[in-house]
Amino acid sequence: MQGRLRLGVLASGRGSNLQAIIDACEGGQVDAVIALVISDVAEAYALERGRQHGIEAVFLDPSLHRTSEEFDAAAIDLLRRHEVELVCLAGFMRLLSPHFIREYRNRIMNIHPALLPAFPGLHAQRQALRCGAKVSGCTVHFVDEGVDTGPIIIQAVVHVLDDDTEEALSARILAHEHQIYPQAIQLFAEGRLEIRGRRVLCHGTKTSQAHDKRAWGAMNP
Ligand code: GRF
Repeated sequence: MQGRLRLGVLASGRGSNLQAIIDACEGGQVDAVIALVISDVAEAYALERGRQHGIEAVFLDPSLHRTSEEFDAAAIDLLRRHEVELVCLAGFMRLLSPHFIREYRNRIMNIHPALLPAFPGLHAQRQALRCGAKVSGCTVHFVDEGVDTGPIIIQAVVHVLDDDTEEALSARILAHEHQIYPQAIQLFAEGRLEIRGRRVLCHGTKTSQAHDKRAWGAMNP
């Protein structure tokens, strides 16, 4: 990869994960640059956060596009023109079309506020509380055609407390999101992630099976 990895961040809301990625890029923990922020919501604070850091931030108006495929085509066009290499979904509330997924196959990440495959979709923290789960957390995963079904890159565990509210649990999970999303991007930037079917192997870390000598030998005979 030539130079720093170029990121495109898609966000629909307050953009705290975007902020964590911005801070990690600026602070040197992530060897990447955010080339572009796109939002489908005009007043999304994510756009403001991007602009405050000199990042081009574009509102892509869904009402100007007849179908989600047309919206996605416009987004792809912008991402291409900014030479984006990795697309990061950060609270982006639209489902990507199969065309978008194909175009950036294995180069789209998402952050989800639960330990997938548990509690996919909306209101993951509420789902965890309603089910009486004792632990939940967050997941960074590659995006495939399903809803929160793609290969898992990193997860962080958060304990559910007896007196938790949705807001309190969400806040504790969010703090972990801000840690693991930049970490996952850095692993990608370093070329250490390898997708094998549903699994993501992380080369060169103790947490990965890849570090186990026997597994490594089996993969690289
Ligand atoms: C986060 O909880 C993330 O896991 C989910 O949407 C929320 C976005 O929050 N996908 P923010 O806009 O990054 O603050």
